Amino acid sequence: MDLKLITQRVQSDLQYIKEFTATPGSGCTRMPFSQETRYTAEYLKKVMADAGLEVREDCVGNIFGVRPGKDRSLPCIMVGSHYDSVYNGGDYDGIAGVISAVELARLLRDEDAELPCDFVAAAFMDEEGCRFGTGYFGSKCMLGQMTIEECRHYTDKDDISVYDAMKEYGLEPERLSEAAWPEGSIGHYIELHIEQGPVLDAEQTEIGLVDCIVGIQRYLVTICGRSDHAGTTPMDMRQDAVDIAAKVISKIGDMAREEGKGTVATVGYMKVTPSAMNVVAEKVDFSIDIRSSDNEVINRIAEKIRKELDEETGKTGASYSIDSKLTITPVNLNPGMLDIMEESCRKRGYSCRRMPSGAGHDALAIGQTIDTVMLFVPSKDGRSHCPAEYTPYEAFAKGILVLYDLIGQLQPQTGSCEK
Ligand code: GLV
Ligand code: MN
Ligand code: MN
Repeated sequence: MDLKLITQRVQSDLQYIKEFTATPGSGCTRMPFSQETRYTAEYLKKVMADAGLEVREDCVGNIFGVRPGKDRSLPCIMVGSHYDSVYNGGDYDGIAGVISAVELARLLRDEDAELPCDFVAAAFMDEEGCRFGTGYFGSKCMLGQMTIEECRHYTDKDDISVYDAMKEYGLEPERLSEAAWPEGSIGHYIELHIEQGPVLDAEQTEIGLVDCIVGIQRYLVTICGRSDHAGTTPMDMRQDAVDIAAKVISKIGDMAREEGKGTVATVGYMKVTPSAMNVVAEKVDFSIDIRSSDNEVINRIAEKIRKELDEETGKTGASYSIDSKLTITPVNLNPGMLDIMEESCRKRGYSCRRMPSGAGHDALAIGQTIDTVMLFVPSKDGRSHCPAEYTPYEAFAKGILVLYDLIGQLQPQTGSCEK
């Protein structure tokens, strides 16, 4: 198999897709259910079909391309990632994993390989959760873990719900349950992704074999104070939502630092209402994202934050609400699949190491119930979720070859399933 050819094909796809951004010149902004996801979806469907796959887009915007195996009743091997992005993100996060899955299909076609079970290339809608503050929407729909009520409940900055955004995009949220795959129909899930951190690049290691992914909890907090004149309202007679939010937020980073062991907590979004220089703020919305490999640590920080909110709002008679947007526990990835990848790296002469993932991935949602692994390729200087994100195309090609070895050696899960 020709590393150069794989590199060229991956490069050509990724360079084409990077044009589908709402912020040209300022990185990739591909929000779920936007024109940019539509253009990307159409391109993905085309390259999947060119790779000889049976292609379909489901009722929530996930795209699947299937190469039939010898026994179609066996649980499939699925390889994929997401095709949405963060605001002003990079050109590789998620989409490189989707294109790697498509390239695997091209290699299977080129080699005329017949797998015992179906091979499925998957492109998931809305993994990032950036628009609605949630995460893993497409993969959760595939797993049957999303409800219409949740689609109605979660809204974006402009108060557009997932439900309405889907409708506007031409999808039918009422059919959400049809996106769920029958239990047992996916035997293995595999995801290639950029590392999004500095370890591999700093060590000059070519492949990361991910053995666990952190758990995550996400919240949207709303502090409700009272708007008043900034010049005339004495400091002890205010319900200043910004003052309260700032006091709570200033402690969140330290809560994570105190826990240590890789624990992180981030307030990445804030909205002040009415947001004027000379008006005491009536309302502040802010997000919280807490991550750790120990679920107890996440619970403890969430609890501490609630206590701080009680205390700080209580001092002035202001109030708050807290909306849970995501709760997902840490996951250990499949040791047998990791061993196969390690052996492949050894045989191919690629340096590799086992490592945890501090970033969330579709593999985090899927790995809760299905045998799953992830493979990381280096991110230059560890930069990600920003336009500076960069990975040389050849690095993807090497990862793809390791995955090719893996899918060739996987024993199909036993037991047939309805599809
Ligand atoms: C996705 O990249 C996340 O980790 O939030
Ligand atoms: Mn991301
Ligand atoms: Mn990603």
